[in-house]
Amino acid sequence: MRIVLGVTGASGSIFAVEFLRRLGDVESYLILSRWGKSVLHQETGLTPESLATFTKRIFANDDLNAPLASGSNPFDAFIVLPCSVSTLGKMAHGIGDNLITRCAAVALKERRKLIVCLRETPLSTIDLENAHKLSVAGAMIMPVCPPFYQKPQSMPDLINGFVDKVRGAVGLPVEAGWRAKDM
Ligand SMILES: Cc1cc2nc3c(=O)[nH]c(=O)nc-3n(C[C@H](O)[C@H](O)[C@H](O)COP(=O)(O)O)c2cc1C
Repeated sequence: MRIVLGVTGASGSIFAVEFLRRLGDVESYLILSRWGKSVLHQETGLTPESLATFTKRIFANDDLNAPLASGSNPFDAFIVLPCSVSTLGKMAHGIGDNLITRCAAVALKERRKLIVCLRETPLSTIDLENAHKLSVAGAMIMPVCPPFYQKPQSMPDLINGFVDKVRGAVGLPVEAGWRAKDM
């Protein structure tokens, strides 16, 4: 499986860090926007370089010459985690002016999995319309919204609860879901 992860300047980059860390041997590529890097550092103290061990390669967001910018280099899923409303708006309107928004455009045109982990609150009518437009176009809108039914006892529990949801959406193995033992 080949996964591409886009990290934008919305709050919650720790979810991206944990998602990436748990990918293990899965082939992955990472793209951070300018504000994605800034929020990552503000919220976790990490730099993109410190994530290099968890991914095959980090591409610059302004590198539209990157192989991922073309539909001829397949990937199985493109996940934007966390996704700002700014990037949401661009993706919903077919604007591919950086590698993150271009990968979204490629995912949509090639009918590949596009998972948009939106992080903003409250959402404006424009944001809701953009999310709806993108959903109709085939994206999965997956607000950063950790579940509480597993009774998280710590921040890592809480973060992993949502990371599991994203893993499930991608098709990766997950820890036990709600009442899984009753099936
Ligand atoms: C500390 C910080 C937190 C932010 N949190 C959010 C957020 O949760 N959601 C959001 O949509 N934008 C948030 N923003 C604003 C975005 O970073 C800003 O709109 C930026 O232009 C997004 O660009 P990008 O999508 O290319 O990363 C935040 C900015 C900062 C500095």
